[in-house]
Amino acid sequence: MAVTMEKLTDLLNMDLEYSAAIVHKSRSGNMTGAAYRDIIKELKIHANEEVQHAMILSDQIDYLGGSPSVNVGKIQASKDNNEMLQQYLDGEEDAIKRYKMRIEQSEQLKEFALAQQLRNILATEQEHAMDLKQALGK
Ligand SMILES: [Fe+2]
Ligand SMILES: [Fe+2]
Repeated sequence: MAVTMEKLTDLLNMDLEYSAAIVHKSRSGNMTGAAYRDIIKELKIHANEEVQHAMILSDQIDYLGGSPSVNVGKIQASKDNNEMLQQYLDGEEDAIKRYKMRIEQSEQLKEFALAQQLRNILATEQEHAMDLKQALGK
């Protein structure tokens, strides 16, 4: 299905809200326990990378003539460490699917710089998913 610039900026705004939600969640840092020390460290790095994603998405939305959202998406917060990691992993896998679509859509519109930025974001999300899978013993 053909995508319009307006539709694409709306979708990018949803990606932006999602990225912001992850940052807020990871910054709340309610995960504890020695067994989780490595992934807690990784999650702090992920949160900083999500900040970068949010900034890149905001700049791109702005450049494309949209107005970057200031909303934060839905925040899932289990009290159980493994459940929380699984929620993060589900979120990363959802992000990977969304960014793959967004790359195709930006190429349809010949927005190649946007596609390149999205490819970089996608590569980082795949790393996030791998870190979480490792922490979950998958
Ligand atoms: Fe992200
Ligand atoms: Fe991520």
